[in-house]
Parts: sequence; structure tokens; C-alpha cells
Amino acid sequence: MTSPSQISAHPDTKSFDVRSIREDFPILQTKIYGKPLIYFDNAATSQKPRQVIDRLVQYYEHENANIHRGVYYLSERASEAYEGARDSLQKLLNAAGRNEIIFVRGATEGINLVASSWGRANLKAGDEVIVSHMEHHANIVPWQLICEEKGAILKVIPINDKGEMNLEAYKSLLSEKTKFVSVVYVSNSIGTINPVKEVIEAAHAYNIPVLLDGCQAAPHLEIDVQDLDCDFFVFSGHKTFGPTGIGILYGKEKYLDAMPPYQSGGDMIKQVSFWRTTFKELPYKFEAGTPHIEGAIGLATAFEYVTNIGRSNIHAYEQKLLAHATQKIAAVDGLRIIGTAKNKIPVISFVVEGAHPLDIGTLLDFEGVAVRTGNHCTQPLMDCFGVSATCRVSLAFYNTVKEIDEFVIALEKVIKKIKS
Ligand SMILES: Cc1ncc(COP(=O)(O)O)c(C=O)c1O
Repeated sequence: MTSPSQISAHPDTKSFDVRSIREDFPILQTKIYGKPLIYFDNAATSQKPRQVIDRLVQYYEHENANIHRGVYYLSERASEAYEGARDSLQKLLNAAGRNEIIFVRGATEGINLVASSWGRANLKAGDEVIVSHMEHHANIVPWQLICEEKGAILKVIPINDKGEMNLEAYKSLLSEKTKFVSVVYVSNSIGTINPVKEVIEAAHAYNIPVLLDGCQAAPHLEIDVQDLDCDFFVFSGHKTFGPTGIGILYGKEKYLDAMPPYQSGGDMIKQVSFWRTTFKELPYKFEAGTPHIEGAIGLATAFEYVTNIGRSNIHAYEQKLLAHATQKIAAVDGLRIIGTAKNKIPVISFVVEGAHPLDIGTLLDFEGVAVRTGNHCTQPLMDCFGVSATCRVSLAFYNTVKEIDEFVIALEKVIKKIKS
């Protein structure tokens, strides 16, 4: 069994040997309809390395107990592992303090927490909240609801035809009325890496806090929340090689401290009577009830695993995959890539003349290929490109050039079949 402290540097840290990395991911050996799995739906959820799976098994076999409340050995051990995960994630995200790391169910819950708690306490009629045109629904709807409740207005940063954020238009939206900016760091549908440092700097000139939806950034980019200077940062564990049902809300202490609780119940209180309740300090004020203990531990293990491989190694390798995949996919007859930003993670969305994305995805499955089809929870973005759905290839560092080549052969085969 592997515990976080036992994970040593990956043997191929320097050379980035994808073959040995793939051996860490048992699911990649799966055969689908007798064909080797080609898993290209990493933006929806990533696969998990053996180190994470083993850590979860170890937790259930040797450490399982409820945390914070028990005075016995197992409970203390589980509490230590849970809080140790917080310490590890604080370090790996470079947050200034452990109080700034809140365990949540995922990005969706993190954004809802901020929109609900910060929004309810701070927004009033006529205020403005800014999002971009390429947001996931998770970063639109919570803001829409709180704006409706408070009489505030949702403003939208436009994008160009490559799928890049229009920074000048963004800056012209900022004013004394703007109270919050909430933008996606990296688009899940088209892969655009947004110039978030500039977004943050411009907002801070007006003292406006900024939330980054880091769901698609965390699996691909180095995350240093102090260097970014974001005020909030959310991501989901399951997209970052960790368990499902766990995620992180990072928030600067000055904001989190001033925000009222989001959910309430056990473990987040200091004192309860029928007349009055007082709340614990951060981070516990925002962690009501029994948390996803093993999820937090597994997420820290996943982050440690990725760090050991080396973020810069991963980035360099993924950029090669992206260049190769873009060139090969673009060459398919009748195919149009949706989203051609200069800075991208390896996500390629496309449509094919005369072939519905759903049909392509369904037939690709019979070839052992898993891709996502649909609007990717970004309907406003699809509208921008005049499509209702795309096929999306989203790669991770365990994918290979060979898989891309085999995928393109399979894609050409299914398109031919659909059109015949
Ligand atoms: C950019 C982005 N934001 C938010 C979410 C929501 O994540 P979750 O469903 O894990 O809460 C996703 C999921 O696809 C995403 O890609």
C-alpha cells in the first residue's frame, strides 16, 4: 500500500516515459468490445492512478472512522489523515494558510457556496457580476440565481471567433457597479486558456474580488493561488486524477472570514442552543456534517502524484499531443474545429458536416473510443459558434500519439459509415 509520504518521485520524472505512467492507471488496460480502450473524455472525468486507488483501500482497511469527534486511535488517525490532506493541498496550491482550503463536493458546490454566501451578504439591487461567454453552466446559474434574488445584473464578457476572451471588452464592463468577477480559467468545451492574471489585475484595480473556475486548469497547469492573486479558486477532484465527490474551494482568508456559513449542522458549530448558535473558525465554518474523508485524502494523493511527475513535464508533453491531434483531426474531410485559441490545453471540439456528434460518439464507442458529445454544459458558448453540440476530444498526460492516430482512423471510418 502507498501512503502519501511513501510516494517517491516518479522514476521517469526527467524523461517523461508515458509507457511507465500508463502502468500506473489500471483502467487503461480495459478492452471495450474487444478493442483497447482509447479514453479521450478526460475533461468530463479523469482516470485514477494505482497510488490513489491504493490510498483509498488503505484508508478503508486501516483508518476508517469519523473525524474530529472521536477520542480513540482510529478516529485520531482518520482526523490526522484528513487534516494532513488539507496541509498537503495548501502547500501544493501555495495558499497562504490552511484555513483557506475548504473541502467541498466539487467545483459546482464551491461556486454555489461563494455565490450564495458572499452574494447574499454583499450584493444589492443594481450591482453587477461579470462572467464570460465560455462559462460552464456551473459558473452561470448560481450567479444568475443570486442576481435574480438581489436584483443584481449579470454581465457577460464576449469572445472572438477563435474562442478567446475579449479583454478590452471585459475592461470596459468593469465599473463602480461591478461587485464580483467569476471566470473560467480554462474552457472545458474548447480548451482556451484565459489570460486570468490580466482579468484579476483589472478587477483588483476596482477592489473587485475574482473567482477562478479552475476545473480544467488543475489537471493541466501549475496552480499557485498566491501568484495568480485570485480571491477564490475552485476545482473538482475527479477531474484531477482523484476521487469523485470531493473538490477544493480556495478563498483568501479575508473574504472567507467575513462570509456567513453556507450549510449548517454538526462539526461547523462552537455552541448551539435553541436561541443562538456560534460557529467555528475557518475552515470548519464551511464544512458542515461528516465530510468526504477518504475523498480528501485521495485528492491530496492525486495532487502529490501529479507533482511528482512534474507539472512542466506534463505541460510540455500535452502540448505535443495537442499539436499532433489538432493537425490530424483538422485534416479529416468535412470537419471543422470549434475553438482555435492560441493558448489551449489538449481539448479539441469539432463538428462534421452531415454527421451528428451523437452518432459519431456512439459509433466511436464500438471502436473502443470514449469521447464526449453534446453541449458540454456550455450552451451559451455553443450558441456563439452557431452549433448545438460538438464532439470533444480531451486528452490527459497518459494518452499517446498512437492513440490519436488510431482515433483518427476510427473517426474516418465512422463518418464514412454515417454518410453511406
Ligand atoms: C470548467 C468547469 N467548471 C465546472 C464544472 C463542474 O464540475 P463538477 O461537476 O465536478 O462540479 C466542470 C465540469 O465539467 C467544468 O469543466
